[in-house]
Amino acid sequence: MRRTHYAGSLREAHVGEEVVLEGWVNRRRDLGGLIFLDLRDREGLVQLVVHPESPAYKEAERVRSEWVVRARGTVRLRPEPNPRLATGRVEVELKALEVLAEAKTPPFPLDAGWRGEEEREAAEDLRLKYRYLDLRRRRMQENLRLRHRVIKAIWDYLDREGFIQVETPFLTKSTPEGARDFLVPYRQQPGLFYALPQSPQLFKQMLMVAGFDRYFQIARCFRDEDLRADRQPDFTQLDLEMSFVEVEDILALNERLMAHVFREALGLELTLPFPRLSYQEAMERFGSDKPDLRFGLELKEVGFLFRESEFAIFRTAERVKALAVPKALSRKEIAELEEVAKRRGAGGLAFARVEAEGFSGGVARFLEPVRQALLEATGARPGDTLLFAAGPFRVVAEALGEVRLRLAEELSLPRQGFHFLWVVDFPLLEWDAERGGWTYMHHPFTSPHPEDLPLLDSDPGRVRALAYDLVLNGVEVGGGSIRIHDPALQARMFHLLGIGEEEQREKFGFFLEALQYGAPPHGGIAWGLDRLLALMTGSASIREVIAFPKNKEGKDPLTGAPSPVSEEQLRELGLMVIPHG
Ligand code: AMO
Repeated sequence: MRRTHYAGSLREAHVGEEVVLEGWVNRRRDLGGLIFLDLRDREGLVQLVVHPESPAYKEAERVRSEWVVRARGTVRLRPEPNPRLATGRVEVELKALEVLAEAKTPPFPLDAGWRGEEEREAAEDLRLKYRYLDLRRRRMQENLRLRHRVIKAIWDYLDREGFIQVETPFLTKSTPEGARDFLVPYRQQPGLFYALPQSPQLFKQMLMVAGFDRYFQIARCFRDEDLRADRQPDFTQLDLEMSFVEVEDILALNERLMAHVFREALGLELTLPFPRLSYQEAMERFGSDKPDLRFGLELKEVGFLFRESEFAIFRTAERVKALAVPKALSRKEIAELEEVAKRRGAGGLAFARVEAEGFSGGVARFLEPVRQALLEATGARPGDTLLFAAGPFRVVAEALGEVRLRLAEELSLPRQGFHFLWVVDFPLLEWDAERGGWTYMHHPFTSPHPEDLPLLDSDPGRVRALAYDLVLNGVEVGGGSIRIHDPALQARMFHLLGIGEEEQREKFGFFLEALQYGAPPHGGIAWGLDRLLALMTGSASIREVIAFPKNKEGKDPLTGAPSPVSEEQLRELGLMVIPHG
């Protein structure tokens, strides 16, 4: 007896056929006489009926949920169809049943989704400890199959476009992407360490020096950084790089690729081209370099209205920004939003309610002199609340940007669909107050905007980079840049970043040397594949689209990793553990 069909694939067309199915018992019901077994495999489930006179009856009485069985029977029409199941018009009348494996009762239910019912989530650590069971659930199977389709679509498209897939090493030297490295000690060379790559960045650039012209890889990356819902210590990028291109070529290719992925994997048509905002405009209007464009609530600059104001805080601030909220917010709501703003560094959140005549509450009396202009600048209407933040640009923008996101939730603004956008013209450098020096915003291999090259020494903070981020629904799903291919400029960049010649040689000598052997102009991008998939599946965390992820603390409850190693191993590696605390 060998399997003839997947259980979930049976339809009316199969009526009358004898079939052999193999899979798991999703649920068993004993109606005192008739026994019903729902048999499940990766394609879905079908109902098996066992009559008391069937030779399969004895085994059917014995089996329980999640047992593995082989079943033979005849497909027939179901007297009462179940519209929730794809197989709901048929059932299989059982002639033989063989138990292939018994199973312990699973620690949480797995069956609901397959029956077309709402799945209840068990505690996440329990799900991760028994991930192989969790992955039996319908939603998890669908997520991983979508992941497969997305990666297949990427491969197909890029192959057609002449890209060559190349694997780059896991055991390598540090590639800086702003996180800490995971280090791997080496037994043959005690005291020496490999670093796991934070990205294939330097290797893909060297592949361009090598003349491959177009490279891609579904690349695993490793970063030791603070964890969040959309971060994992090891995660997957679609990494790609192209030679002899400009920003426009890379953006256009990525848009077409994304459209192909959405069409193949979700059957959705994206509208091209994606909108674009400069970093400056994104910060001005949305207070974020990854704005969520699914709703409005734009920030407005109003500082210019208060240059003569009696209200010193507004008059003297570098910037005053306002947000018109379409609701008369209560004191309590405003206090909560103020907390959000303060956490982002704002001194506070000023407010006033817009009345049919004038303003009330908060800073109302300071607004009266500029009433008409303020209403025009903010678009506020009677019944709204105006919120203000005043201070340095970035602080004001980011604080109100965070308030904007919180409001979208509180006001339950509709947030539907997939809203892509490019954020371009990022600043090349950022001032690191702690270190008292310039640091890179993307990575140190990003090319300055050619127009801004003269500012590189005189006013580095104003230099734009040829860097871009791909944003989807308020999440950064990708980032890339045109690279520096001139070794002299690369050395100048390192110098600006306070990386001395000795350190340059030691960390990146091999790479600077490669640039001296004829590097073509080149650039590329990496997508955060896990983040993209989380958005495509409507998942709250990237853990939902990764087969075996770490939990929120970076641990794997299934294997127990990370875990201590034996004294013997440490000795071989020439390592000693210094107890913490
Ligand atoms: P970047 O560091 O922006 O660029 O990474 C690219 C994308 O990867 C995703 N990402 C992550 N996803 C899950 N967990 C993490 N810890 C994590 N960190 C980043 C994000 C991000 O946009 N070498 C450059 C790319 C290039 O310049 O071509 C790079 O790695 O979605």
